Amino acid sequence: MKNHFGNAFFGVKDFLGFFNGVQKAIHSVDGVAGTYTGDNLFTFHKNLSFLDDLEFVEAHSRHAVTEVEKSTIWRAAVVLWGFRHGLKLEGDFIECACYRGTTARIICDVVKFEKFLDRKYYLYDLFDHNPGLAHHAMPAHSKTLFREVRQRFSDCTNVMVNQGEVPAVLKKNSPSKIAFLHLDLNNKEAELAALEILFPRIVPGAIIVLDDYGWLGYREQRLAEEPWFAERGCSVLELPTGQGLVIR
Ligand SMILES: C[S@@+](CC[C@H](N)C(=O)[O-])C[C@H]1O[C@@H](n2cnc3c(N)ncnc32)[C@H](O)[C@@H]1O
Repeated sequence: MKNHFGNAFFGVKDFLGFFNGVQKAIHSVDGVAGTYTGDNLFTFHKNLSFLDDLEFVEAHSRHAVTEVEKSTIWRAAVVLWGFRHGLKLEGDFIECACYRGTTARIICDVVKFEKFLDRKYYLYDLFDHNPGLAHHAMPAHSKTLFREVRQRFSDCTNVMVNQGEVPAVLKKNSPSKIAFLHLDLNNKEAELAALEILFPRIVPGAIIVLDDYGWLGYREQRLAEEPWFAERGCSVLELPTGQGLVIR
């Protein structure tokens, strides 16, 4: 039985008190097994079956370096599941937005994406903070991040790293058939605009992962996206990870 201990929690005001409480809870359980902490999750006596996927766990520990990246392994496992499903369908793969490229890098390692020469993985991001746009600054945003992320995928010629604002960049360069979409823009307007463009191109049965859907801090996104998908005959499953899952 495996455990995964991460320290990143969001929205905590008394971190020491919270952390001590989590430690106490862990040690109050009958046998520390199947315990997951981090990313606003605390589970115990769960299979955590994604931790049995050794290639995934190794790729994750190679590439996840920040506390947030280490704590969000369950989210990465969800993305990997949707991506693997997409490999059985027709079309290309998209992540809007990729930030440092960590999730995409883990996926590429696990599925050995460089061997799928007839498939492409399109990554988009601004890579640098633009105070004129409705997106928040993140620690790695910089003038050089685009170059660094391109370098991170230099061994995967079928990964297309694109710098630009969603949705404008999608109008310039995006695939016509999509087998998997990972949407993580932290921004209602940009996500809806991306969906307007990309949803009609997503092949039936493909998975869409909405990273922010279940988070109260991004509640505006859920309030807008739930009816948007309902109008198109799809329902969104809110996962305990905070992600939303849609089957096209
Ligand atoms: C939470 S991060 C993405 C993390 C990434 N999906 C991962 O799994 O590692 C959100 C990113 O969205 C980008 N972003 C926000 N609004 C955007 C827009 N309109 N166009 C392009 N990128 C945008 C930000 O620059 C930021 O890097």
